[in-house]
Amino acid sequence: MTMNYLVVGGGGREHALARALSCNPESVLHAVMSHANPGITALCHDFLIASETDTEAIVRYAKSHQIDYAVIGPEAPLHAGVTDALLEIGVGCLGPTRAAAQIETDKAFCRRLMKEHHIEGLPAYRIFSDSEDAVDFIRSHDEDIVIKPIGLTGGKGVKVVGEQVDREGAIEYARSIQGEMIIEERLIGEEFTLMAFVDGNSLIPMPLVQDHKRAFEGDTGPNTGGMGSYSMPDHRLPFVLDAEYAAALRIMQDIVQALDTTGSPYRGILYGQFMNTATGPKVIEFNARFGDPEAMNVLSILSSDFSEIAIRVAEGTLRQSDVVFEKKATVCKYIVPAGYPEKPESGDKIELADDHDALLYYANVEEKDGSLFTRTSRSLAFVGVGDTLADAERSAENAASLIRGNVRYRTDIGKEAVLFDRIHHMKELR
Ligand code: GLY
Repeated sequence: MTMNYLVVGGGGREHALARALSCNPESVLHAVMSHANPGITALCHDFLIASETDTEAIVRYAKSHQIDYAVIGPEAPLHAGVTDALLEIGVGCLGPTRAAAQIETDKAFCRRLMKEHHIEGLPAYRIFSDSEDAVDFIRSHDEDIVIKPIGLTGGKGVKVVGEQVDREGAIEYARSIQGEMIIEERLIGEEFTLMAFVDGNSLIPMPLVQDHKRAFEGDTGPNTGGMGSYSMPDHRLPFVLDAEYAAALRIMQDIVQALDTTGSPYRGILYGQFMNTATGPKVIEFNARFGDPEAMNVLSILSSDFSEIAIRVAEGTLRQSDVVFEKKATVCKYIVPAGYPEKPESGDKIELADDHDALLYYANVEEKDGSLFTRTSRSLAFVGVGDTLADAERSAENAASLIRGNVRYRTDIGKEAVLFDRIHHMKELR
């Protein structure tokens, strides 16, 4: 039966969502995005250019196009209550309500929920509502700490004392934060992402992914939205032991149960960002949506019908058998404008080649007269899929190396040497 779907958002993640939905020929695709993403517009029956947090415009659009189900990509529309408003007019949503999305949008809510429900993996933390109390705490503690504003910061709000800033810098930063902040112990280990489909009750995990946030080779330079990511054919990561994986999954299940007791059952994607430490996985944060770039890894190997999964999540009827991933490795490499993330140069022409076998996802680019131009954020991503990590990396690397323009990417993402470093680091820590 034909169904009308709406994708909210216009980045690389949302292109992957749109592609996955469009694999079912019965899906009629619509999108609301703040800029025209040429990958999404090519797949859509119709689209609206509007702010992704303009709840009224999104509801009007959904009504006038008889949308049946919506898939919300980024966190900002979740925080703006887009899911709540769509549910009110009878549109089923893959994306939690504003209250349930607090697991991402309010870091103090997340930490308090974990504490109250005795959920494992909680780092030592303190919440401060007065910045001078935070300053006193920073002055009187020598250990490495992490400072986080409690609200959404677009991934740019976390400061690691000892690494990104010194103690004086930390004091200045704490004074600049408006509202509550959290100060936490600095976790040492290897990060991994565990995402899951959650239908209010069942939680069905996706393959583990490792993201690379730093701008430059060897995980150096400033943090970015994510320069690329990889996943393995067995859907695990070799530096995460079975017991550590089981512990991370249990933490996610406990969060879903805890949210249920708050009267806000969770329906959508739960994204756990974990630090695997010497004493097991600790929660860095939860997100209420797919990761970007991680969505591109997992959706590229989803062999079951994503449009059906979206319906089942929205209706609370998801079964394990609805979610099947190919046993393949994936490597995603983001192409970014020169100067990204601190001083991105935009408006430059990018030329793509055809002689590669990687999947192409558009992100923040402008299409004018048949040519592509950079904007200020990540431009586009190539995803290589292969039987081994090396095959997937070669595919993504080949595609990325053929691109011409004032852009760059990280050549090291998905290389086996990077993986061996991770395995070695975890062995040392354990
Ligand atoms: N890849 C990190 C994020 O989506 O927040």
